[in-house]
Parts: sequence; C-alpha cells; structure tokens
Amino acid sequence: MAETTTQTDSAAIPAAAAHPRKALQGPPYRDFVKAVTDAKAARNYLEVGVHNGSTLALIEKPAIGVDPNFVFDRNPVGRKRILHLFQMGSDEFFRDYDPRAIFGAPVDVAFLDGMHRFEYLLRDFMNTERVCDRNGVILMDDCLPVNLEMTERLHRPEQRQDKALAGWWTGDVWKVVTILREYRPDLRITPVDVVPTGSIVVSNLDPSSTRLADAYFEIVDRFAAQTLTPKDYEAYWKVNRPTTAAALLNDFGLSLHVRP
Ligand SMILES: C[S@@+](CC[C@H](N)C(=O)[O-])C[C@H]1O[C@@H](n2cnc3c(N)ncnc32)[C@H](O)[C@@H]1O
Repeated sequence: MAETTTQTDSAAIPAAAAHPRKALQGPPYRDFVKAVTDAKAARNYLEVGVHNGSTLALIEKPAIGVDPNFVFDRNPVGRKRILHLFQMGSDEFFRDYDPRAIFGAPVDVAFLDGMHRFEYLLRDFMNTERVCDRNGVILMDDCLPVNLEMTERLHRPEQRQDKALAGWWTGDVWKVVTILREYRPDLRITPVDVVPTGSIVVSNLDPSSTRLADAYFEIVDRFAAQTLTPKDYEAYWKVNRPTTAAALLNDFGLSLHVRP
C-alpha cells in the first residue's frame, strides 16, 4: 500500500489544482488481493512487506509473510491453517530460504508490497518469479501513482505541494512496470484500478527466465536517475491504463467479493 501518514481529503485544495490527481475507483487493494487468491484457487500465498498484517490476515491459504519490521496490531493468522513469518528483508529471505521447500509446492499468488524503490521491487519480482508456478500470478502494489509527487525516491512529505496526499508514497516502483514491458515482453501485464494506488497483475510467468537477472546492473544503471516529467507521467498512465478489478477477476472466472 502507498505508505500513508495523513488522512486523505478528497476535497479540492488550491495546491491540488496545480498537481492534478488521477482517479482510481476500484475496490480496496486488500479485497482484490484476497479475491485473486480465491479466484486462482491458490494453494499458497507469499507477501513481501506485511506491516501490520491487514492484508495477510484476510488470506485463508497457507502463507509466508516477510518484513524486516512487523508491527502487528491484529492476529495475522486469521482463518489460515499455516503461516510462516520471516522478520527480515526480502533479499535476505530469498537468499536463505526457498518458499517451494516451505510450502512443498511452487508459489501460486505473491503480493509484492515491500520497499518502495524500484531496484528492491525488481529484485523481489525476479526472486519471486523464480519460485512461482508457471500459472501463478504476481501482484505488484503502488505502481499507479495518483499524483506525480508521490513518485519521489525519498519521501519528503513536508516538501510536497498536494498536502492532502503528502503522506502517500509510492516511490519509483512504477519503473518496474516499464522495465518488465521492455525486458520481458513475454509476461502478461495488467494494471488494475484498485485504490489507493493500483495493482499490477503479472502472469504468464517463466520461472526459468534469467533475462532480468542477466540485465540487472544494466537496468539499474539505466533507470536509477530517471524521474517522471508531467508529460512522461501522462504517457505512463496512457500505456498503463487500468482495467477494472471485476474484469480481471472475470478472466479468472470469479467475481469480486468486497467486504461490507
Ligand atoms: C506499505 S507497507 C506493507 C503493507 C501491507 N502489505 C498491507 O497490505 O497491509 C510496506 C512494508 O514493507 C516493509 N519493508 C521495507 N523494506 C523491506 C524489505 N527490504 N523487504 C521486505 N519488506 C520491507 C516495511 O517494513 C513495511 O512494513
């Protein structure tokens, strides 16, 4: 989720006029993640970046949660029979553990919502795809920033102009969508209009692909300094125009159940 420290006030404020926002109108991302997990009849679920467990708690399948700093304010187990928690960064987790060995099967649904810098999400994607089932899906959070300011690499809410959204920070994880489109045209990439900042559903996975790993340093060199101009931002949204959650789930043959 876009990290947030202030309440959203959708009422227009003067600064917002100079920093136009995009409007996403789908269901909350947590409901979408759960619906995908159910729709795929997933055997298991991996979440990178767990925070207080508010998404993890909804999942009913055997799960792994990874976060260097859990801040649970609820029981993350929910209705699951099995939950494995790893309090460490995702790089360390993937270096030292193999989810396939833990689950006894490849990963069916993964939700990547850890550090909001593109090189972290890129590594999380590479490491996750490697251990996924070919028919699995990887959901990447926060890749549809609803204003330009929230794409800053360093979150500096005090310097932001759109004060109502100053607590939202997507960082530059949007770059990973552009990278996957260029380096992995074999993947199926579907942006979805969940709130607050979108979900990117990646399928047609190839766990044997080394294309990203082979080009990792080249990619980081090329993309590290990139920032979005207002024109680039509009172009990014045009290429990544989101589909509705309902349409995506319809593809999986189930409709979205949104909690009351
Ligand atoms: C936006 S929160 C996750 C929210 C959670 N997925 C949910 O839906 O409620 C981002 C989390 O990523 C964690 N994080 C930061 N660096 C990380 C890393 N290197 N590996 C895994 N998690 C990381 C943070 O500790 C934070 O809890």
